[in-house]
Amino acid sequence: MLNYVSDARRLLTLNCKRQNQAVKSETSTRASPFDDLASAYDAWFEEEGRLIFDIEVQAFQEVLPSLPKPWLEIGVGSGRFAQALGIETGIDPSVKLLKMARRRGITTFLGKGEQTSFDKKSYGTIFLIFTVCFLDDTLAVLKEAHRILEPDGKIVFGLVLKESPWGRFYEQKKRKGHRFYKYAYFHRYDDFTKLLEQADFTIERVISTLFQKPGKVEHVESPRNGYNPDAGFTILVARKTQESRYD
Ligand SMILES: C[S@@+](CC[C@H](N)C(=O)[O-])C[C@H]1O[C@@H](n2cnc3c(N)ncnc32)[C@H](O)[C@@H]1O
Repeated sequence: MLNYVSDARRLLTLNCKRQNQAVKSETSTRASPFDDLASAYDAWFEEEGRLIFDIEVQAFQEVLPSLPKPWLEIGVGSGRFAQALGIETGIDPSVKLLKMARRRGITTFLGKGEQTSFDKKSYGTIFLIFTVCFLDDTLAVLKEAHRILEPDGKIVFGLVLKESPWGRFYEQKKRKGHRFYKYAYFHRYDDFTKLLEQADFTIERVISTLFQKPGKVEHVESPRNGYNPDAGFTILVARKTQESRYD
C-alpha cells in the first residue's frame, strides 16, 4: 500500500504540469482492482486478443476522421487503444496500467472519470473504450464528460452490450467469478441510450463489428453501419445536445 501511495504521488507530480488539469489526490489514492490484473490485462492483447483488437481498431477508423481534437480517453488502461487510435491523453485510476500507457507515449492522469479536474470545455472528443462496464457511476461520468467537452464535442464509446453473444459470454464468466468480469456490469443498448439522453448527448452514429462468436474469431472483419445485436463490439458516437442543461 505504501508503494502504491508513493507511486501514485510520483505520477501525480509528473502529471500535474498543466496547472489547470491537476488531478485530485483524494480520488487517486484509492487502489484500483485493475492494479492486480494489469500485466494479465495487457498480455491479452498479444495473445487471444490480438485479432479481436485489430478488428475493433479497424472499426474505429470509420469514425476517427470526423472527431474534433484534442482527444481524451477516460479509462485509458494500458494505452493500447489510445496508441493505436492516436488519442494523446488518458485518465485512469490504475497506477500500474497508467505506467504502461505512459510507456506507449500517452500523457496520463491518475483519477476517475466521475470527477476530474480538467477545465470545462477543454476536449474535442472523449473516448470510453471497454470502460463503461467497469464504472461505479456511469451517469456521473457522462455528466463530467459533458462538462469537459467543447460545445461541439463528441463522445465515443466502445461497448460490449449485454444482449450480444460476447455480452452473454462475459456475463457467464462474471457469474463464475472471473477475475476481470466479476467487476463488470454490461448495459443493454436501449438502457445505455437512455442514459446518454439523460446526460444530454445525442447519438450521431453507430458501428457494429465482431460478428464472429467467442472462441471462433479467425479472420479480420469489415465493420457495418448501425446497431446490430449480433455484433460483439459496438461503437457509438454522440455529440453534446444543443442547449444542454449542463452548460
Ligand atoms: C477493461 S479496461 C479498458 C482499458 C482500455 N480502455 C482498453 O480498452 O484497453 C477498463 C478500465 O477502466 C478503468 N476504470 C475503472 N473505473 C474507472 C473510473 N471510475 N474512471 C475511469 N476509469 C475507470 C480501469 O482502471 C481500467 O483501466
